[in-house]
Amino acid sequence: MTVGESLDFSHLYSEETKSRKSSPLKTCIHLFQDPNIVFLGGGLPLSKYFPWENLQAESPLPPFPNGIGAAPSGDAKDTCVTSIPKDGTSKAGDTNDIPLSRALQYGFSMGQPEYLSFVREHTQLVHKMQYEDWDVLATIGNTGSWESTLRIFCNRGDTILAEKYTFSSSVYAAEAQGVNVFPVPLDADGLIPERLEAILDNWNPETPKPKLLYTIPTGQNPTGSSLSDDRKKEIYRIAQKHDFIIIEDEPYYFLQMDAYEKDPSKRKAIEFASHDEFVNSLAKSFISLDTEGRVIRMDSFSKVLGPGTRLGWLVGSKRILRAYTQLHEMTIQNPSGFSQAIVSGTLNRWGQHGFLDWLIGLRQEYNEKRDVAIDALYKYVPSTPALTVTPPIAGMFFTVNIDASAHPEFATKYQSKPELVEQAIYEKVIACGVLVVPGIWFKADGETTPAQPKESKAEPNPNGIFFRGTYAAVPLDKLQDGIKRFGIALKEEFGL
Ligand SMILES: Cc1ncc(COP(=O)(O)O)c(C=O)c1O
Repeated sequence: MTVGESLDFSHLYSEETKSRKSSPLKTCIHLFQDPNIVFLGGGLPLSKYFPWENLQAESPLPPFPNGIGAAPSGDAKDTCVTSIPKDGTSKAGDTNDIPLSRALQYGFSMGQPEYLSFVREHTQLVHKMQYEDWDVLATIGNTGSWESTLRIFCNRGDTILAEKYTFSSSVYAAEAQGVNVFPVPLDADGLIPERLEAILDNWNPETPKPKLLYTIPTGQNPTGSSLSDDRKKEIYRIAQKHDFIIIEDEPYYFLQMDAYEKDPSKRKAIEFASHDEFVNSLAKSFISLDTEGRVIRMDSFSKVLGPGTRLGWLVGSKRILRAYTQLHEMTIQNPSGFSQAIVSGTLNRWGQHGFLDWLIGLRQEYNEKRDVAIDALYKYVPSTPALTVTPPIAGMFFTVNIDASAHPEFATKYQSKPELVEQAIYEKVIACGVLVVPGIWFKADGETTPAQPKESKAEPNPNGIFFRGTYAAVPLDKLQDGIKRFGIALKEEFGL
């Protein structure tokens, strides 16, 4: 049930956003569609000079009875044909297509209406929004959404909060804009609300408070952790108390799986009796808890359809999305018309339930990949308290946590410096013919001037290091082989 309107968060905007005006040219572009107007107002090429008469793609057909990896045969019984004409409706008489004459034209900075209505409906179905004036906005994926978010809210010298280990590109994007990324500790269940609250309760008043929390709640990159619903409620309460915006970066949201079962004979993939049951099984998102427009959700098709679609969407209050639209008018303008036309055409043919079928199928695939990876880790990583594996319940990543002080040469060759052990392991794994990456690459370690209290960065195990691997990128046999090599590297390095 939606109740009430969003709050105004414009006091958190950057100077850039506060001084941005809408381009006057963009205020009249909608009149291009008005049959009563002879449009001489902008440099829009005639669509007859677009060389494409149609665009056609085949995809599997819901409910994907042969699994989502089965290629369509071309036969109507298992093949969905998306055929987008230049003008008017598709041959099938489907009115949900974005004709190429419009898809490839200027205009629609928020995204094409057919695309937006699909993702809007999907958002309501999955997140059951709680305030009235929310909306969606087409994006070029979460990398671009994050870049825009930083520009909308942050000035050089501002500080934002993020999980202590987080997606390194997001940290580098922030730092390049002069924004500090202050770390919040996390554990196997994600960001720790008590630590977040302590950081903010004790924030040095001589420095501006963080305006944003950047978080990857589901299948966190790099740790693989997933934030519990209870922690999310706590974090939302802290956001209200300390007046910051929560940015949830959720490319892995639909890669949620069953809990890992060590005994293969006891494994039984969850069968969903209905789409509602599937939707209700999903972790609660921050946006679904939001009653004030304090959350911005970044969604992407990269991990569920294909990264090269460069297509995603934002969910947030209409007020805040207006600031994104104004920025996009000066930057990306809009995601590629080809991409919107083909993705929206496919999804509108699949329908909301067909898309959920796809996501359920994807979940099954990742369940299997995760199980194979974790089985192999338990088999090949030496069994010692210094090396621990926590099976993820979402996403693409596994981690092996390592107590560097257990290394036989920790105090001698490596001078009791965990980062030197980490580098040595990294070199060893490559020598053994596998690539997993050191956790230090993902470390956020920004600081304010003057600094925050020392306790804000206190670390329970200063010798803890970890390595991240993925079960997404290779077939199962290669995955097992890679983990075997990783196990050999650890064995050799630790002299086990
Ligand atoms: C947390 C996180 N955010 C964003 C991205 C990039 O997403 P997109 O392809 O939508 O730009 C990734 C990709 O690895 C990621 O792990």
